[in-house]
Amino acid sequence: MASSRQEADTTDGLQEAARAASGETLDPQDWSAIRAIGHRMLDDMFDYVEHARARPVWQPIPDEVRARFREPLPRAASDIARVYEEFVRYVVPHATGNVHPAFMGWVHGGGTAVGMLAEMLSGGLNANLGGRDHVPIEVERQITEWAREMVGFPSGASGLFVTGTSIANFLAVTIARTAALGTAVRQRGLTDAAKGLVAYTSRSAHGCVRQAMELSGLGGDALRLIDTDSLHRIRPEALEAAIAEDRSAGRKPFMVVGTAGSVDVGAIDDLAAMHALCREHRLWFHVDGAFGALGMLSPDLAPRLRGIEGADSIAFDFHKWGQVPYDAGFLLVRDATLHRSTFASPAAYLRREARGLAAGSPWPCDFGPDLSRGFRALKAWFTLKVYGADRIGAAISRTCAVARYLERRVRAETRLELLAPAQLNIVCFRYRAADADTLNARIVADLHESGIAAPSTTILDGRVAIRAAIVNHRTQPQDIDALVDAVLRLGGRS
Ligand SMILES: Cc1ncc(COP(=O)(O)O)c(C=O)c1O
Repeated sequence: MASSRQEADTTDGLQEAARAASGETLDPQDWSAIRAIGHRMLDDMFDYVEHARARPVWQPIPDEVRARFREPLPRAASDIARVYEEFVRYVVPHATGNVHPAFMGWVHGGGTAVGMLAEMLSGGLNANLGGRDHVPIEVERQITEWAREMVGFPSGASGLFVTGTSIANFLAVTIARTAALGTAVRQRGLTDAAKGLVAYTSRSAHGCVRQAMELSGLGGDALRLIDTDSLHRIRPEALEAAIAEDRSAGRKPFMVVGTAGSVDVGAIDDLAAMHALCREHRLWFHVDGAFGALGMLSPDLAPRLRGIEGADSIAFDFHKWGQVPYDAGFLLVRDATLHRSTFASPAAYLRREARGLAAGSPWPCDFGPDLSRGFRALKAWFTLKVYGADRIGAAISRTCAVARYLERRVRAETRLELLAPAQLNIVCFRYRAADADTLNARIVADLHESGIAAPSTTILDGRVAIRAAIVNHRTQPQDIDALVDAVLRLGGRS
């Protein structure tokens, strides 16, 4: 009797528990409604990209727009159509602007309609590329193979998508640190063995190289900034002298970072000479090729990158010259075993199996600190397959031709002064004036606010420069004319 009541209780209890556990999901109640708005969003974004030139590059953000993004946590639901309306009215007109052909600031790729579609597809799949056995990871492995082929690395090299080159450089420093100290550094941290380790890069290197040294625990002071020549390229003889000096002082050189396309002026270090030095002195040779490495796809630029194939690791971004939408940084490492031994951390809950979904080891999480990882590889895969590597290379070459056109326009104007010639896709110049630093900074801010063009500024030899980096495949001579004409007009007002 008692046992049959217990059974009845259990059955009732189970039913109750099942009732409590059933209910609404977050899927749409009306799929046709979301389909309709989804199609509208897609059409709107095609219009956004197609008609980019018709809009201002950028616009100042009115206070009331900014205030809309200071709301408390929305507890209640909202209709997607209303949220989309907010996006259209307040986000779209005040986005970065790098889709626009006249965006020339910093180093921003323009993206493509193909990449945008791929982003939507990967959003739908919602794949997690930390690990397990599924084709999205094969797509990432395919990109590693293509990247390896592009730079001339041997088979067996490893690769990993990351957010950007800043992180890829940091991972490279971490791997080089493991090469110098052994995997014991992972348990013991920086013991006496790490004392005196020094790395080298040029004065023109990106600031993230120093930051990588700081984050690695070796410290920014352990990075030597080597002098550059008149074209902002590292002076190999100065590098060799610095290595010799450190050695004779009892310090331990372990890494050299070359730059393929410097952020300020697009300088390419003599990678072949740096590689030779690194071999002679048994140093890790890393190349920061944030945008420049993809120059390997351009027949006219590839010879200038000679020596990159000798690197131990290369960091670069598909989201810059590769035109893949943000973000799509990449790290390529010659020695996959060392790469893996720097990061792989066995854990019971990540046990690998010979079959089933937990097969397919090693997993991407064995090659970097990210366990949850999105499907960045898909947008790079679509971009490379749809356009073909040659067409991406041709777009890269054309950005350099556009930069040369800007250089000629600057040279032809007596009111303008060229501060750095177009070695690659970047031109630095300024309006001549008594207080040129203040004036040129003001010209750039005025340009941004006018919506005509968006170059950025930098400081070269202590002088403020207007810096135009032609990264976007959409930029044409007419955008350069608009930039130069506006600089002359704004400068003339002073
Ligand atoms: C030479 C160089 N290195 C590193 C970086 C940093 O790359 P990311 O912005 O993808 O982190 C940049 C960015 O412009 C760069 O030009």
